[in-house]
This record gives sequence, structure tokens and C-alpha cells, in this order.
Amino acid sequence: MTNEHPSTVRIAQVGYGYWGPNLARNFYQTPGAELAYLVDASDEAQARVRQLYSCQVTSDLPVALADPTVTAVAIATPARTHFSLAKMALEAGKHVFVEKPLAMSSVEARELIAIAYMRQLTLMVGHVFEYNPAVRYIKEAVEADELGEIYYLYSRRVNLGRVQSDVNALWSIAPHDISVALYWLDRMPEAVSCQGASCLNGVVEDVIFLTLHFPNNLLCHVHVSWLDPSKVREMTVVGSKKMIVYDDVSAEGKVRIYDKGVYRRGDPIYGEFQYRLHSGDILIPRIDMREPLALECAHFVECVHTGQRPQTDGENGLRVVRVLEAGQRSLDAGGAKMALESV
Ligand SMILES: NC(=O)c1ccc[n+]([C@@H]2O[C@H](COP(=O)([O-])OP(=O)(O)OC[C@H]3O[C@@H](n4cnc5c(N)ncnc54)[C@H](O)[C@@H]3O)[C@@H](O)[C@H]2O)c1
Repeated sequence: MTNEHPSTVRIAQVGYGYWGPNLARNFYQTPGAELAYLVDASDEAQARVRQLYSCQVTSDLPVALADPTVTAVAIATPARTHFSLAKMALEAGKHVFVEKPLAMSSVEARELIAIAYMRQLTLMVGHVFEYNPAVRYIKEAVEADELGEIYYLYSRRVNLGRVQSDVNALWSIAPHDISVALYWLDRMPEAVSCQGASCLNGVVEDVIFLTLHFPNNLLCHVHVSWLDPSKVREMTVVGSKKMIVYDDVSAEGKVRIYDKGVYRRGDPIYGEFQYRLHSGDILIPRIDMREPLALECAHFVECVHTGQRPQTDGENGLRVVRVLEAGQRSLDAGGAKMALESV
């Protein structure tokens, strides 16, 4: 799409491997944006780009950064390259969208936030599930106190493949679950415990069991893996009034609200409680689904246009990185509970 409007956000995207094509397609279709450059180190990726788009293609990000008409850079390269590429783009005065995780450490994440702040640039991280209408529906239900007190939640995001070898399943997959949990609960855990197993190459963990410990004994458990027989993307929130299951791969309705609960009656002094089970209706709300990635890309372009803070800004990215970092320390210590580093 060639858009000659003077405020068009001209985007240079870096990375056109597995995920990059999804991002490029959405930026290409986003009103007010133009896919100006695709940067990828691989000849094969460049050839795929040329078949679909008439944008400039290069292997060298500095070429795109030197173009003063490029206003923003979108980064869809492996996680370990995010910090250096994002820093380079921000220092060249470009707004930056970076895929999850924002960086591989909170020190790096804070540096990106500081540069973006100093230069008054948009920095946004691709926590795409926060743009998912089903996830947003649940956020509204939590905020409206429909669930009552949240006792605990758990998440499973497992499948067979895509096997990674550069980062483990914690850094590769769990950013999604962590970002959704923090978004729904609107608070940070105090500590994290994490265990995992490296079954395939003995280097990175293919399966991760991560627990976030929030104040008031609120627990969130996350199980992620690329070595599993079934494709499951499910999160369950158990509240004192209602319970919700969010099944991202369900065709019949991604959100189910269970009017179920347990009421306690009795004498708290003598500890003689009676528990009454309540099992009411199950509601499958109608939710207008739009591609979350399209909403995410449109939000980035809107933020660049208006200067508004993205929903998933640098601070949001930092919060997830802090949890990942504590999770990695716990994993390295055999699962010991680790407090989050102080801010
Ligand atoms: N939001 C999501 O649901 C989602 C899903 C998958 C991946 N991702 C994220 O997307 C990013 C990319 O993942 P992927 O699976 O597509 O990786 P990939 O390895 O398949 O592709 C990465 C591409 O980047 C290119 N590249 C690497 N370093 C480069 C550099 N310095 N300059 C130019 N090109 C370079 C490679 O040639 C390759 O084509 C990761 O951050 C990942 O976490 C997000």
C-alpha cells in the first residue's frame, strides 16, 4: 500500500523468518502505515519478501535507518538481538515496535525505555494477547468484580513444535502468559519459582513449569512447552464468585464463564465450617473477534501518530522481563523461590 499522506508512518521491519510475515502483512494493511523496508540477513527471506511486496529489501538495518523518511522500525528477529537492534533504531531517532520479549534482561529493557523517553519516541512491545478481544473481555469482567476475589489462575500453552534452540520455552513462549496474567491482575508477583526440562538438546528447556507468587497467596501457574502431544492454549481464572476459562483454540467460543463456586458457612473461631457448592449456568459470551495482530499493529501506528503511550509500552515490556529474569534465576537454582529484583 503506498500512502502519500504526509503523516504516514513509514516502517522498516527487521526479520522475515517465521513470525515476520504475519507482522509485515498486518503493517502492510494498516491504514496510515507503509511498509517501506524489509531487512533480513537471509537471502531466502529476502526472496520471499520480493515475491509479495514492492518495498525496499536489504540485509543491513543501517541502510534503512539512514533514510530520513523512515519513521519507525519493527523488530521480528530472535530474542537475543532485540536489545541491540532496538537501541540502534531508537538512537537513529525511529519509533520502535519490538517483538516479545522486549529484551533479555531488565537492565537492557530499562536502557531502551530511557532512550525512548529522552528522545520522545514510541517504544512498544509485541505482547499480542493484550490486544485479543477475548483477553480484553476477561479484563473487563475482572475489573467489574464479576469473578469476586481471584483465588488463583493457571495457563497452559503447549504444542508439538516449533522447537527452538536459541532461547528456552520460558523466554520464547511464557511472555504471552505472563503479560496476560499481569494485565488481568494489574499487579506484580512478589516471587517466582520455575522448573524445566531440556529433553531434546540438553541446552535449552523445552518444557517449563513456572509459578508466580502474588501477595495474599494468589498463585498463577504457567505450563509452556513445544514438546507436547496436544495444541492447548488455555487459561483458567478461579474466583470466589465465578470462574472463567479462556480457550484460544476453541471454535465454539473462546470464553466460558462458569457460575460456580463454594460458599463457606460456620464458625471461624472453632474452625467448624460447612461448604456449600454452587453450580449455575455456563455463559459463552459473544465477542467480536478481530485479528489481535491487526489491532496491535494499528495501535502502534496510532501511538506513533498521536504520541499516546502504547498499552504494551516499554514499562509493560520491562514488567514481563523482570518476571522472566526471576524465573530464569529460579530455573538455574533448581526451582527455588526467587524474589523479584527491586525496581
Ligand atoms: N507474537 C507472537 O505470537 C510470536 C510468535 C512467534 C515469534 N514471535 C517473536 O518473533 C521474533 C522472531 O521469531 P521467529 O520465530 O520469526 O524467528 P526466526 O528465526 O524464524 O526468524 C528471524 C529472522 O530474522 C533474521 N535476522 C536475525 N538477525 C538479524 C539481523 N541482525 N538483521 C537482519 N535480519 C536478522 C533471520 O535471518 C530470520 O529470517 C521473536 O522475537 C519471537 O519471540 C512472536
